[in-house]
Amino acid sequence: MSETIKVNPLKNITGELEVPGDKSISHRAAILAGLSDGTCKVENFLPSEDCVNTLRAMGQLGVDYEVTRGTGDRPLDLIIHGCGGRLKAPARVLDCGNSGTGMRLLAGVLAAQSFDSVLIGDESLSSRPMGRVMTPLTAMGARIETKGEKAGCAPLHIHGGQLNPITYEMPMASAQVKSAVLLAGMFAPDKTTVVQPAINRDHTERLLNYFDVKVRTEGNVISVYGGQAVRARDLYVPGDISSAAFWIVAAACVPGSRLLIKNVGLNPTRTAILNVLVRMGAHIKDVVLHEDGGEPRGNIEIVGQELQGTEIYQDEVPNLIDEVPILAVAGALAKGTMTIRNAAELRVKETDRIETTIVNLRAMGAEVEEFEDGMVITGGRSLKGATVKSYGDHRIAMAFAMAGLLAQGGQTTIEGTGCIATSYPTFGEHLTAISKR
Ligand code: S3P
Repeated sequence: MSETIKVNPLKNITGELEVPGDKSISHRAAILAGLSDGTCKVENFLPSEDCVNTLRAMGQLGVDYEVTRGTGDRPLDLIIHGCGGRLKAPARVLDCGNSGTGMRLLAGVLAAQSFDSVLIGDESLSSRPMGRVMTPLTAMGARIETKGEKAGCAPLHIHGGQLNPITYEMPMASAQVKSAVLLAGMFAPDKTTVVQPAINRDHTERLLNYFDVKVRTEGNVISVYGGQAVRARDLYVPGDISSAAFWIVAAACVPGSRLLIKNVGLNPTRTAILNVLVRMGAHIKDVVLHEDGGEPRGNIEIVGQELQGTEIYQDEVPNLIDEVPILAVAGALAKGTMTIRNAAELRVKETDRIETTIVNLRAMGAEVEEFEDGMVITGGRSLKGATVKSYGDHRIAMAFAMAGLLAQGGQTTIEGTGCIATSYPTFGEHLTAISKR
């Protein structure tokens, strides 16, 4: 994909679309199938840089796999030969690229191994906080050193060893932290418990149960017993609703649009964006058609309307955290005010997404007030084409490609779009196809 995307305004968004596999589930599939006691067929894996890095890391840890559809760089279907929980010491550092999910989940697994390992990442990942996983893992007895230029950041030097179970109250609603502790807990004796401050994506819990590792969830308290075998299972990864979100919002905002997104994940801990859009007046119908690996998937149909601003509720934020940049674009176009608060976690994503979203919205003529934990957008003005930057953040790049489609007057240039390959490698092709309809 070229490093710059140019987008012209579109009258409406119509047709059908299938987005690539879910990023969160693909990471977890690579890890759990790799730890399983046999052979797992994984279909519709997300062939993005982030997930391929996790898969390669599992390969370096002794897990064999074959790509049966796609290529080594872009695997779509895989056969993963699980190592039965017996990983090997890696000969080299494990490179997680841009992926916080890859690094934090692997840290949970590696903390419990009988060997040392080193996790590295790109410049953005090397400035993201790792203390949030080190704190619980250290409490379980792990020894982890951060050797980054920035305190508490990667590279992570993990001195693996026998862990103790803990009960950990997470200070933030992070699925990555929850997952790191649960994965580490699989290797500790007895019961490891995580208490989360709010419901957030539960793919790890669902997938562990699917692989026969019993996880108990009671409200916000999640427990796993260590020592359970991970049973090999075949798995189909649903489309990623966070990738679909760009098209969903674009279609929802424009009267005359009609879009069908097929085969997309509809896990309720990921669909808060649909609730918010419906509250804004959008016409959206979602229907669950299948369940694979404990994950519901189906279709979403969107008919465009003029939208009204709304307030995103505190308990919705963790379940739409990756969709805030594109929801902010919807807010700028909607009538009235859009309030997004309690979202300070956005400041430690691939970029400070409060800042990068606001800078770009303002460049396109929107009126936005910044808060430490979010933003308030005064909508109802049309956006005008402009040159904006991705700041190396895939979701910022894609959100503003949509803003370009929805702008009135002038072309929008998004600079630095190579990062889109970390989560949605076929985005450029889909954008071209939608633009031609
Ligand atoms: C993810 C969890 C979220 C999300 C990220 C993927 C996951 O991060 O933003 O894109 O797969 O667990 P946090 O857990 O840090 O909120």
